Amino acid sequence: MNNDVMIIKGNFIFTPSFGQLTVLENSYIVIEGQWIKGTYTELPEEFTGLPVTDYGDDLIIPGFVDLHSHAPQFVNRGLGLDLELLPWLEKYTFPAEAKFNDLAYAEAVYKAVVVDLWRWGTTRAVLFGTIHKEATAKLLELLAGAGLGGYVGKVNMDRNSPPALTETTKQSLADTEEFLQDTASRYALVKPIVTPRFVPSCTPELMTGLACLAKKYQVPVQSHLSENTAEVTWVRELHRKCQNYGDVYNQFELFGQQPTIMAHCVHSDAAEIELMAKNNVYVAHCPSSNANLSSGIAPIRRIIKEGVSVGLGSDVAGGHQVSIAQVMVATVQASKLKWLETQKTEDFITMREAFYLATKGGGSFFGQVGSFEAEYEFDALVIHDHYVVDPNQRSLEERLHRFIYIGDDRDIIARYVAGKKVDHP
Ligand code: GUN
Ligand code: FE
Repeated sequence: MNNDVMIIKGNFIFTPSFGQLTVLENSYIVIEGQWIKGTYTELPEEFTGLPVTDYGDDLIIPGFVDLHSHAPQFVNRGLGLDLELLPWLEKYTFPAEAKFNDLAYAEAVYKAVVVDLWRWGTTRAVLFGTIHKEATAKLLELLAGAGLGGYVGKVNMDRNSPPALTETTKQSLADTEEFLQDTASRYALVKPIVTPRFVPSCTPELMTGLACLAKKYQVPVQSHLSENTAEVTWVRELHRKCQNYGDVYNQFELFGQQPTIMAHCVHSDAAEIELMAKNNVYVAHCPSSNANLSSGIAPIRRIIKEGVSVGLGSDVAGGHQVSIAQVMVATVQASKLKWLETQKTEDFITMREAFYLATKGGGSFFGQVGSFEAEYEFDALVIHDHYVVDPNQRSLEERLHRFIYIGDDRDIIARYVAGKKVDHP
């Protein structure tokens, strides 16, 4: 029985509920296979005598979860960010994505993406690929090969898109079905996800067909929602009968009929937020991207208060960085501006709360992921924060905050995903 048991010692910090931090100093975690059996301040007798991996005074935290990013846009980080969403898509994003019809090019970029996710401690990621099924299947292969977890989508686009990225409705659906059949049960930790790009680039026929495929293959759905005011206006013009942008997805059964992530939700009104809560739609909060593309500050406190599940998204390359720690910082900073903007009525997001969103908040989309509670999968980062010059004694929580704000990949000395140590891909 004990072959499969792993015991790790160190300072554990995790967040079992929004706003609540658990700090276990100099403690033990026992893992059986991929699952956590428990955390203990004293090692129970049944485990004494087994080998212990001792990380000394290091911090051990759950792995970061990125609920929304675009792998093919990795090469565009930091480019074109003086534009707003729609011109930015035309000028930078679509040309970059068109290149992924070249499988060798795709493989080179996707290898770098996977290394960067690993570097920054993202243990699970929900990614957009491109319309190209071979390149997107390659991304799943590389992510799985690296030992990371995730959902990856072949993107669908059959209207209002440049010629190189415009599929016929029929081909888009056929390629998606082939992609789902090929990948649905190929890897343990990496799965496909149905990915209509956003309403303006998908015809009603395509959305209807994608909902059928998501249901048939029992796979989740991801898209973009209410990111930018010009985009929201455009969607209203395209679908005048719908109550709001989210209602368009809902009419086509792409809004929680299968587990669903909607990125951004900067301009969601009360009705849209209520529909997300009712349908258990997840929000991927992408504050770095929302600042870069001048999209706005999402009302994330209100969205959480209404009962919507929220995680964080880097949204590369609207977001300029892969690091979810930096997205946590952006979350806190943006929310403080919102706090001032609302005459201090909408409380800002604290670092503890941002830590929840980056771990258990997003992790819950994967099941029991993102915490060190019993029966969770063991995804973890070991933080050896010795690069900081500071001779003063700091608390474990202070060291966590400091790592989030100013740490980098040099501080992460080990990564675990689903109970396995994952080395440089
Ligand atoms: N909306 C539709 N496509 C995209 C994209 O690639 N990035 C962002 N940020 N928003 C989108
Ligand atoms: Fe996005």
